[in-house]
Amino acid sequence: MSEAWAGLIARYRSRLPVRAADRVVTLHEGNTPLVRADRLAAAIAPGVEVHLKIDGQNPTGSFKDRGMTVAVTRAVSEGAEAIICASTGNTSASAAAYAARAGIRAYVVVPRGKIALGKLSQAVMHGARVLQIDGNFDQALTLVRDVKERHPTKLALVNSVNPDRIAGQKTAAFEICDALGRAPDYHCLPVGNAGNITAYWAGYREYRDAGLTEACPRMMGYQAAGSAPLVHGRVVEDPSTIATAIRIGNPASWHGAVTARDESGGAIEAVDDEDILAAYRLLARAEGIFAEPASAISLAGALRLGASGRLRPGDVLVLTLTGHGLKDPDTAIANSAAATTIPAEVDRLADFLELG
Ligand code: F0G
Repeated sequence: MSEAWAGLIARYRSRLPVRAADRVVTLHEGNTPLVRADRLAAAIAPGVEVHLKIDGQNPTGSFKDRGMTVAVTRAVSEGAEAIICASTGNTSASAAAYAARAGIRAYVVVPRGKIALGKLSQAVMHGARVLQIDGNFDQALTLVRDVKERHPTKLALVNSVNPDRIAGQKTAAFEICDALGRAPDYHCLPVGNAGNITAYWAGYREYRDAGLTEACPRMMGYQAAGSAPLVHGRVVEDPSTIATAIRIGNPASWHGAVTARDESGGAIEAVDDEDILAAYRLLARAEGIFAEPASAISLAGALRLGASGRLRPGDVLVLTLTGHGLKDPDTAIANSAAATTIPAEVDRLADFLELG
């Protein structure tokens, strides 16, 4: 019998809000690598074990595909003719791809000039109608929620305010526990609209309540310093950060994030752009893993957690890398050494090899 991975609905169907009659819309998302990172562990704290959940290896290059397979499957079954979302980029790319797969239209509303190039390329290539606003993500989300109210049946809203998105995303926690044979002690991840931290917490609790794990991790959420409403306890009107994916001032799942933090004994902290970029480069150089800047905040946060002295030898940390580095080539080029131009001569090439 074939053991081929057929997507996360096929694997976790009994734990998902998918009905027997639903025709599953899938690109075989999920089952992403959990990679042990000993070099980063040594940089974080003595004796800790660090695993990277590389969710940028989903079909469209971000964790959004986990929620989108469930949300689009349900939307099509309920008769939606089109889906709509607000996005900082990744949700739009994922919505566009799954709408194409399902054969329905996607409308995506994004803040003009604040979307990484790779994400915009995906949305347009998959045939989404891309609408740019001179405003931020929070305003875009308000717009799509309002228009959804006018068209409650034919239009499906696929932001993480849709519970089917959260249900799909909780499978990342299942995969981590299945791979480790236990829950980690700490889980570090970026927080933007706060759907993902809400989803992970739901997944970890579900496994513990089912007796599949004994405990839940402390949930450690990280926001960019210029976009840290949950850290300050108030809406940020004009959020800013190099990590455009999490440039959000009024997270829709505010309550879910605070619950995850408080019930797990975790924290939500702010990381400035300089530390995000340092972690972005370190991850790529030290482990060969290219994640987008918003994802690198997981590592920046873990480094800070280690420096604070809170970790003990033997602690197991999982860091989610939410999106692929290729999503944002402009930030990569701007933060790397420029290429050197040489004549096409072997002597000149040999001069560069720095071999002993
Ligand atoms: N990391 C990446 C790469 C993201 O794209 C996002 C969110 C997050 C982290 C934060 O996740 O919102 O669930 O707290 N991106 C959304 C989008 C907002 O439109 O693509 P969150």
